[in-house]
Amino acid sequence: MNKNILITGGAGFIGSHVVRLMVNKYPQYKIINLDALTYAGNLENLKDIESAPNYNFEHVNILELDMLINVFEQHDITDVIHLAAESHVDRSILSPMDFIYTNIVGTINLLTVAKNYWSTDLNNHRFHHVSTDEVYGTLGAEGFFTESTAYAPNSPYSASKASSDHFVRAYGETFHIPYVITNCSNNYGPNHFPEKLIPLFINNIIHKKPLPVYGKGENTRDWLYVIDHARAIDLVFHEGNNGEHYNVGGFNEWKNIDLVKLLCKLMDEKLQRTAGESEKLITYVKDRPGHDLRYAIDASKINKELGWEPTVTFEEGLSATIDWYLQNEEWLNHVTSGAYQNYYTEQYDNR
Ligand code: NAD
Ligand code: DAU
Repeated sequence: MNKNILITGGAGFIGSHVVRLMVNKYPQYKIINLDALTYAGNLENLKDIESAPNYNFEHVNILELDMLINVFEQHDITDVIHLAAESHVDRSILSPMDFIYTNIVGTINLLTVAKNYWSTDLNNHRFHHVSTDEVYGTLGAEGFFTESTAYAPNSPYSASKASSDHFVRAYGETFHIPYVITNCSNNYGPNHFPEKLIPLFINNIIHKKPLPVYGKGENTRDWLYVIDHARAIDLVFHEGNNGEHYNVGGFNEWKNIDLVKLLCKLMDEKLQRTAGESEKLITYVKDRPGHDLRYAIDASKINKELGWEPTVTFEEGLSATIDWYLQNEEWLNHVTSGAYQNYYTEQYDNR
């Protein structure tokens, strides 16, 4: 069946990989990438597919209700894959309101427009909400997040994502919007904005700048290569059951400090620097307030029900990611000029 799929946030990190996968894999679908192009949105991420006949771009903010209605009408939108969000925890601590507006109000806008536009026949539509494992809060040394773990968000970012998940559910229960929600662990890979741990540290190693490890570096994250997340979204979008959550994770837990040391080692090898040189850049800085200790996803539901599993090992993915940044210095220089410097100063100076 032909579909006209609205993908929000398609110029961002994960969104650009989802757009590329859908444009290339489903030439019969019309893909509409809707993005406000905030500091995190970058059309350079989509250069290779921007001329594809089934690709369209709409420069729209999800807070603009009238513009959203226009896009639905103009493209006869049949389905939504919603990724647009403010996505960085540290920025949510500096400026929570941006997260309330985009992540909560923006999601409600989209739900409302979809509900109204699809009202005559809700059956052949889908609203896929892309969420995070951070809604579950933090784990201690043991255990995993499952789809039935209670929500307990600890940062303004995760609270805003949890709220948006609740509104998606509420629109499903109250207005019968057919929805699915995916809750994924930490992604890494090409096009990751260098405010997040892995790309920020790659950029700092290239420039021999300090590597600011929060606290003691004991926090643990479960890393997944971004293309495997895009594959999971494709699968759940097409085959997931309405009204259900699917956890997506890498089965790949790393303590921050161990990950940073591995990154330093690989970068020294690739940059032909003396072994141990980049590790000397590690600087322990004041911890992130409300810093979640550990995330770990139990991805057995998506594995058993839909047959999904990661295809890229961490060794392969991290190596490919470093290579991508080394080969795309222009991209990195572009996104780290201008406003990035102001953010960096505010976030890291005097820490
Ligand atoms: P990102 O910050 O790289 O990209 C976000 C995109 O949304 C950008 O292109 C930006 O321009 C756009 N956007 C922001 N505000 C907008 C608005 N008001 N209207 C329209 N567009 C707007 O984010 P990401 O890391 O690619 O994350 C994408 C989604 O996946 C988010 O919903 C995030 O919560 C979720 N997620 C991310 C991760 C991760 O590790 N990065 C893991 C799990 C889930
Ligand atoms: O778990 C999924 C989430 O992963 C997504 O929902 C978020 O959008 C995404 O940003 C990510 O959140 P984290 O807070 O886990 O990612 P971040 O890269 O910011 O940090 C990873 C870990 O590294 C975390 O424990 C904090 C630490 N850190 C981060 C930065 C930026 C540092 O020690 N130093 C740093 O400079």
